[in-house]
Amino acid sequence: MEKYYLTTAIDYVNGRPHIGHAFEKIMADVIARHYKQRGKDVYFLTGTDEHGIKIQKTAEKSGKQPIEICDMNAQEFKNAWALLEIDYDKLIRTTDIEHTQIVQKIFKKLMDNGDIYKHSYTGLYCSGCESFLNPRDLTEDGLCPDHMVKPEEIQEENYFFKLSKYKDRIIEHIKTHPEFIQPAFRANEVLNQLENIEDISVSRSKDSVSWGIDVPGDDFQIIYVWIDALSNYITALGYDTESPSDMFKKNWPANVQIIGKDIMKFHAIYWSAILMALGLELPRTILAHGWITIDQTKMSKSIGNVIAPKDVIEEFDLQHPDAFRYFMMVTAPSGKDGNYSDVDFKERVNADLANNIGNLLNRTLNMLVKYFDGEIVTIPPSGEIAKEAANTVEAVKDKFDKFELAEAAQDIVNFANVVNKYVNDTAPWSLAKEGKMNECSEVLYNVLESMRFIGILLAPYCPNISKEILEQLSSKMTGYDSLVWGQIPVGKLTEKDKIKPVFLRLDSEFATDKKKS
Ligand code: MSP
Repeated sequence: MEKYYLTTAIDYVNGRPHIGHAFEKIMADVIARHYKQRGKDVYFLTGTDEHGIKIQKTAEKSGKQPIEICDMNAQEFKNAWALLEIDYDKLIRTTDIEHTQIVQKIFKKLMDNGDIYKHSYTGLYCSGCESFLNPRDLTEDGLCPDHMVKPEEIQEENYFFKLSKYKDRIIEHIKTHPEFIQPAFRANEVLNQLENIEDISVSRSKDSVSWGIDVPGDDFQIIYVWIDALSNYITALGYDTESPSDMFKKNWPANVQIIGKDIMKFHAIYWSAILMALGLELPRTILAHGWITIDQTKMSKSIGNVIAPKDVIEEFDLQHPDAFRYFMMVTAPSGKDGNYSDVDFKERVNADLANNIGNLLNRTLNMLVKYFDGEIVTIPPSGEIAKEAANTVEAVKDKFDKFELAEAAQDIVNFANVVNKYVNDTAPWSLAKEGKMNECSEVLYNVLESMRFIGILLAPYCPNISKEILEQLSSKMTGYDSLVWGQIPVGKLTEKDKIKPVFLRLDSEFATDKKKS
């Protein structure tokens, strides 16, 4: 089996998980589930980023130890991912002892190789970015453009990493590997940032930040949070500067590293340079997604519009996370921002999952019971609908290979639309009335077989609905190798009391009754 290693950004634990964090993890989970269906040996890493000034300050304010804050909030992230059925293989915490030890070894190796040197420095530090800013990048009022706060002027003797040494190699890599930065329109942004790249400070004095990993051999400095954080992608696999583990040898380089657009620079430039300095290959693709806004507004604690995944699940009394997962994936087309609003959420999932896909299965199974006692009588020769199904499979695969998840979901919905139209045009109820039972059974077969395809294609987004669809079709096959037309066998398929809606319209009477009881 071909390996497939994918990672997400690791979340800061100075706050709780919100639907922006969730968006990224769902995206990774959908990709992971899709490639598993295509027979890849997937390893999916996520994690939490636990060191740095923000946690230290949060701890000071609440009178707790930093590790207590980390433990508490890391658990919140784990709970959120469990609720959303994020099926990761490992969740690394940067406070894990194995991680901290390897980060020190990495730092030492970079020092020994002359890539890290000591230097006295005055700079503008933004604690929101956990990074020094270039005066050129500030707003006219001298604020950090991302956090709109004035960076602090800091003078320190720090360790510096020779980022400038790798500038030309990184530019070359980006230019010769079009798949490296996705979506491609982000590559220019990175190339522009590289124009002015300088060596970066990779340590902080303990006087200013104490919550971090010690610089090996220096009692007064801790390792800069981004070196610590970025290394997680290899420490999680058991990378070691002396003898890398089998897991590492198998999985590195990553197939895709999924991050938000705000942290592209750290990944495409800093991370690439660190890997080059360690003599390691670069990941195949760094995939930057857009941001989720709430009612078109940036989520922020000060505005008070932060929504947790749990809030949505509870608000709509969802039995499983599928509708939310689905909506998150369709609201943000490849690399673009997406928006969440209760109204859009409800409308979209009702239209696609309940009316389009759910009803199609429901009414077809009911007709099979009514006209054929729930039995498949013959397997008809494959025709136009079968061709359409095969085209959809190819289109979905192609979109996934380009990480176009919203677009792939749309292909599935479009196929369901085509099949709905086919039902309306062929009107199997009229065929039955006219006694054209062969034709009627042919139509029903084509629809049910299409539903089997839809059930499988939809699984990465909506694992529970998919399971329900396939169960009602008595089909146990879930992989892409079963997307071959004509697999539903002749014989009894279902009975009246086995048929139930696979997704209840939100706010439908049935759903509301459930909420009341
Ligand atoms: N800890 C760093 C990442 C280190 S990766 C080696 C960090 N943490 S974060 O908690 O601020 O963000 C984690 C991820 O969530 C990032 O990829 C970020 O882009 C993403 N998002 C945070 N808010 C978001 C939205 N509102 N919408 C979509 N994604 C967002 O950065």
